[in-house]
Amino acid sequence: MDNEIVSRIKALKKEKDVVILAHYYVDGEVQELADYVGDSFYLAKVATKVKEANILFGGVSFMGESAKLLNPEKKVVMADQLADCPMAHMVTKERIAEVRSEYDDLAVVCYVNSTAEIKSVSDVCVTSSNALKVVSNLTEKNIFFVPDNNLGRYIATKLPDKHFIFNDGFCHVHKSIDKEAVERAKKLCPTAEVLTHPECTMDVLEISDFIGSTSEIIDYATASTKKEFIICTEMGVFFELMQKNPDKKFYSVGHRQFCPNMKLVTIDKVLEALESMEPEVTLPDDIMESARKPLERMLELAK
Ligand code: 13P
Ligand code: SF4
Repeated sequence: MDNEIVSRIKALKKEKDVVILAHYYVDGEVQELADYVGDSFYLAKVATKVKEANILFGGVSFMGESAKLLNPEKKVVMADQLADCPMAHMVTKERIAEVRSEYDDLAVVCYVNSTAEIKSVSDVCVTSSNALKVVSNLTEKNIFFVPDNNLGRYIATKLPDKHFIFNDGFCHVHKSIDKEAVERAKKLCPTAEVLTHPECTMDVLEISDFIGSTSEIIDYATASTKKEFIICTEMGVFFELMQKNPDKKFYSVGHRQFCPNMKLVTIDKVLEALESMEPEVTLPDDIMESARKPLERMLELAK
């Protein structure tokens, strides 16, 4: 890592009263520099507790928006303005209104990987680590799960008493991890455990030993007595997995485990954002008000 850039970042953070939050999918260099690194749920919770006046987010837009929604008085700056999650845009307000008109006893459950506009018309948010707990705490029988189809279907298998309506959104990174590639990896290393993110397709989930969020995958591998693991999620998690487990081996299933949006976040961009304190996350007042509620409800129901 460039020591000059690192010292400049540290000095600017202090001078401008900034805390850096980063997701496990960004560059290892950024993870090393960040004050807090975690999965979407952890980062949303941390954002409500930090004392600094400004948050610099190393992640994609929906993560910065969630931090802003939960902390309206703080300035939230993104490391890269273009870092956006395509899945966040894979459902429309119109489709939500249509499903609402078809069911009386309905909760619109919105995966946090969604735009603030979609959150503003949803009843509750979830992340991959709390979806099961939050949805099982809802009293409604019918659940419209947006935007991710795979996470929705996975949660539905665990909650047979609920009636799910699915949306057809997906993550291109997790969708590209196919069953054949996982089986090939298992043949090459039959003793390895397969650890998978629930955004993967059902056929991959079915041949996995453990399913969980990025943090849960890291915690599982760290606590395990096994020595080898096949990792079915974005490759950014390898940084923390290897930091915490230098004696264990982690394998990917192919070259496509790469989120181009997360990889826009580099230490050069972090420095630029700290120098200019831009791009800032801003949202219209009405969205600030209405999109915060499902996020706060998630924090409450996930306790
Ligand atoms: P986590 O909930 O594990 O942070 O996952 C977020 C994400 O974008 C997965 O692709
Ligand atoms: Fe979005 Fe997939 Fe990238 Fe996660 S890995 S931020 S779901 S595109």
